[in-house]
Amino acid sequence: MRFGYFDDQQREYVITRPDTPLPWLNYLGNEAYFGIISNTAGGYSFYRDARLRRLTRYRYNNAPRDIGGRYLYLRDSATGEYWSPTWQPTLTALDDYTCRHGIGYTTIQSTYRDVTAQVRYFVPQGSNLEVWQVKVTNHRVKAAELSLFSFVEFCLWDANDDMTNFQRNFSIGEVEIENGVIYHKTEYRERRDHFAYFACSAPLAGFDTSRDEFLGVYRGFDQPLVVEAGESKNSVAHGWAPIGSHHVKLKLAPGETQSINFILGYQENPRDAKFEAPGVINKVTVKPIIAHYLDSANIDAAFETLRQYWDGLLGVLQVSTPDEHTNRMVNIWNAYQCMVTFNMSRSASGYESGIGRGMGFRDSNQDLLGFVHMIPERAKERILDIASTQFENGGAYHQYQPLTKRGNNAVGSNFNDDPLWLVLGVAAYIKESGDWAILDEPVPFDNQPGTEQPLYEHMRRSMQYTLDRLGPHGLPLIGRADWNDCLNLNTFSEEPGESFQTTTNKDGAVAESIFIAGLYGIAAKEMADLEDHFGRGDTAASYRDSAVKMDEVVKEHGWDGAWFMRAYNHFGEKVGSAECAEGQIFIEPQGICIMAGMGLDDGRAAQALDSVRARLATPHGIILQQPAYATYHVELGEISSYPPGYKENAGIFCHTNPWIMIAEAIVGSGNNAHDYYTRINPSAREAISELHRCEPYVYAQMIAGKDAPTHGEAKNSWLTGTAAWNYAAITQWILGIRPTFEGLQIAPVVPTAWSGFTATRKYRGVTYHITVRRAGPGNTVALAVDGTPVEGSIIPLITDRAACQVSVTLN
Ligand code: BGC
Ligand code: NOJ
Repeated sequence: MRFGYFDDQQREYVITRPDTPLPWLNYLGNEAYFGIISNTAGGYSFYRDARLRRLTRYRYNNAPRDIGGRYLYLRDSATGEYWSPTWQPTLTALDDYTCRHGIGYTTIQSTYRDVTAQVRYFVPQGSNLEVWQVKVTNHRVKAAELSLFSFVEFCLWDANDDMTNFQRNFSIGEVEIENGVIYHKTEYRERRDHFAYFACSAPLAGFDTSRDEFLGVYRGFDQPLVVEAGESKNSVAHGWAPIGSHHVKLKLAPGETQSINFILGYQENPRDAKFEAPGVINKVTVKPIIAHYLDSANIDAAFETLRQYWDGLLGVLQVSTPDEHTNRMVNIWNAYQCMVTFNMSRSASGYESGIGRGMGFRDSNQDLLGFVHMIPERAKERILDIASTQFENGGAYHQYQPLTKRGNNAVGSNFNDDPLWLVLGVAAYIKESGDWAILDEPVPFDNQPGTEQPLYEHMRRSMQYTLDRLGPHGLPLIGRADWNDCLNLNTFSEEPGESFQTTTNKDGAVAESIFIAGLYGIAAKEMADLEDHFGRGDTAASYRDSAVKMDEVVKEHGWDGAWFMRAYNHFGEKVGSAECAEGQIFIEPQGICIMAGMGLDDGRAAQALDSVRARLATPHGIILQQPAYATYHVELGEISSYPPGYKENAGIFCHTNPWIMIAEAIVGSGNNAHDYYTRINPSAREAISELHRCEPYVYAQMIAGKDAPTHGEAKNSWLTGTAAWNYAAITQWILGIRPTFEGLQIAPVVPTAWSGFTATRKYRGVTYHITVRRAGPGNTVALAVDGTPVEGSIIPLITDRAACQVSVTLN
């Protein structure tokens, strides 16, 4: 069952009923001011940091769901009846409703009793504010007298403190109202130099800033006293809960439309110019901004600028294949999701409260794979930030804080896969940009001035970190966990509530990871290719040797007969082996080891993929492991804490599926690769939205596995490494348009049924118009650039043209 449809022309998902299975979210903002917004206007906004600079309040895990938002109420003066044009919070049965989630904006429109209201929410580029562009139309034969009320509830900045420290917070709330603009200035009197403001373009009939006055102490957002009465109280909040509400009276002739604009923004003042009079905010800098963005013409221009910004980003790669789900995800939604993960990391979503997690070392490096082609400059900045948190021994803080860019001591280090991801991230950046100079950038260790070494040295130490930590079988020691944060082989936790990731009860000298062995193999090849570029053949050879050695160790101790094993635990026992009662086969090493080239020469790769197909593949995607752990295993950790079928305990952990797609492409099966791609493609799952439940336009981290009673139900949408890896799998390995150190490679491994596809790719300043035609069932390519045949599948860098035609024949 569907709850809407894709409008690919407009790059929108159009939701046609408000009661979606879960709130379906979108994001506002690309630079510093951000918000999440649901299809019924729920959500919140923040400046840079979702925890420390939160503008508006949101109630996670509330009943009903999705409470707190950018609310509007319309009230008919003739009858006293009122409703919310975005459905929440009054839940009035609207006569029609659509929500268009677009790229960086959301438009919600509804009609009730012949009054149509449309509101478009977006954040103009270069601003620290959001616009609510409202249009109300009277379709009645008679004039309509209406009241429009706006509503936001302010958060007292630190979202964590806001939810917990009521003894203080109920006394500190402060506002100012000047010329109808509501200023939220809690703590501005002391150390803060920033405030929020909420302004309206129309003359006001009144305003409110006290929640208790506006709603009534015992009422919810669905029936505010003020809206019911049709009259604002002009309340001024002192402590308790400051809100912002404007009241606009509208007289609409039959057929008439009126526009009313609201802006909600964030502003900082210089510390020595905070006040214009004792206690009064200095508004010199903010007033021109408010005046500018309340003007409809400027708003329309800003919206156009936003569209062009996205045209530019999405225009780097556009494809036209025989599969609409592929086209729509590659051209629009998957790329958009990658940009959102770049901006948000894992901070603010329907499942991430904006308070919990900082930027992950491994997560941020992997996210790069999905956005580096769109904004290489910002990818570079990100890489340098990440690398600056590395330790001198090559290890890494598992997370760092976006505001301070410092490593997070509370989570610490010793996730032994972390450093290797830096190599993959930097390699992806250079392959895209050709910016070899980044390797010479001086980067400190643990942010300590004076410790700077070239970025290249950081990568070298990442590699060495693994070799310095080999276990009894010669495989890399796992530490606290590898990619699978829940495979905690040294934790041995018996205490409820103890962190599985940061508790370590064993010295870690035994438990080994075959996943890290595979990842090392991938990173070693990247290092070798990089060395080759500089003509350092000896170093290149030594990296290749070390990859071969790792492969040999895996062959001897990490191959279980029909698939790659997962690990050895603290007792030296196998994990992910047919010998185990549960957890016999894991997905991660099958993908990663084959990506490292392991088992390609002796049939192990094909055999491992057969095992995946037989044991892990379901119609909803590929499960992380089987059989699920039925009980808690102290020697395995968090993985066995989840009920069977969820998350790392045999859920379909979508992040890992593209590794299998890539492995299938590497062994040459475009059919299998694209089949797996389609199973978790959100667009291809749109028709089962009542089961999938999450947004049909973005990936979710997890789909419940076959051991779960809710098999097929997705969770944790939006902020997940799934976005970047699926983008890499489909664009680079299935469609095969792959940046390399020396040029753009075109090596498609597409379904045999495809007659071909076309693509436009901007790469290092040149636009490649690519036409792929299938002449035979295989994957052998014959390339010609502007009519001239090219050897192999890599097009040498083009420097003398701005565009070229690439024709590719598959045989
Ligand atoms: C989740 C993992 C996640 C980890 C991060 C766990 O509860 O299951 O997916 O990586 O938390 O701390
Ligand atoms: C989510 C975490 O953000 C990521 O770092 C981890 O690799 C996966 N969960 C798997 O546990």
